[in-house]
Amino acid sequence: MDLPPEFLTLYSRLDRQGPGTPEDVLWALGRLGLSGPLQVCDAGCGTGADSVTLARALPEAQVEGLDAVPAFIEAGQARVADLPNAALRLGDMGALTGPYDLIWSAGAIYFLGVTEGLRAWRAALAPGGVVAFSQGVFLGGDEPQAVRDFWAPEPALTDREGLRAQVAEAGYEILDTRLLIGAPWEAYYGSVTREIAALRPGASPAMAEVLDASEREGALWRQAPDRIAYELVLARPD
Ligand SMILES: C[S@@+](CC[C@H](N)C(=O)[O-])C[C@H]1O[C@@H](n2cnc3c(N)ncnc32)[C@H](O)[C@@H]1O
Repeated sequence: MDLPPEFLTLYSRLDRQGPGTPEDVLWALGRLGLSGPLQVCDAGCGTGADSVTLARALPEAQVEGLDAVPAFIEAGQARVADLPNAALRLGDMGALTGPYDLIWSAGAIYFLGVTEGLRAWRAALAPGGVVAFSQGVFLGGDEPQAVRDFWAPEPALTDREGLRAQVAEAGYEILDTRLLIGAPWEAYYGSVTREIAALRPGASPAMAEVLDASEREGALWRQAPDRIAYELVLARPD
């Protein structure tokens, strides 16, 4: 992935690269009844926030965080250094081999496409294996312009019903879903705002451009915090 170094500087400093909380991970593990010596992949792990939560919650499991951006993997290595059951590595989540009992993927499957991603992951699942992923959704009705502008970089985005259809098209059954709205986004954009403020003094023109773009994204979210959501989907192959 070819990202400007200024973008990497900002986003590598963040605890995570998209909205989500440890509670979401724990909810998914509880709903799926997962424990014991599992093989787990955190696909598109960024700097590894969820890899850490998964490794702590599943002490007998092996957790492999995978991301395509070297700067994120480097930034995340230190976070898992004291966790014997977690490792982060550079790789393409579109070419997972597994076998994994759980493929967790927060805010990343849209890079592959939901249906395409789930299809690609099927062969990487162990028998009985499951996928948990979060994906942006329109909540339906008359979407305010801010919502449409916010999601413009993800033109394939659909509503909750459309997401169900994409999952079904990939040959998966949905086990449960949870809407991530409000607090996880507030926490995420709060952290982005803090890092923008830290990097703003003396920023180069290229850095200022990246900071401005991130500020715009946060401002759009703040215009419609009750209309912008991820859906966390728990699914298994039919
Ligand atoms: C919105 S971020 C979410 C990161 C992390 N899951 C989190 O919630 O903090 C999406 C991540 O997917 C990664 N990504 C995109 N395409 C990828 C691919 N083909 N293989 C591995 N990682 C990929 C990006 O580098 C980025 O770190």
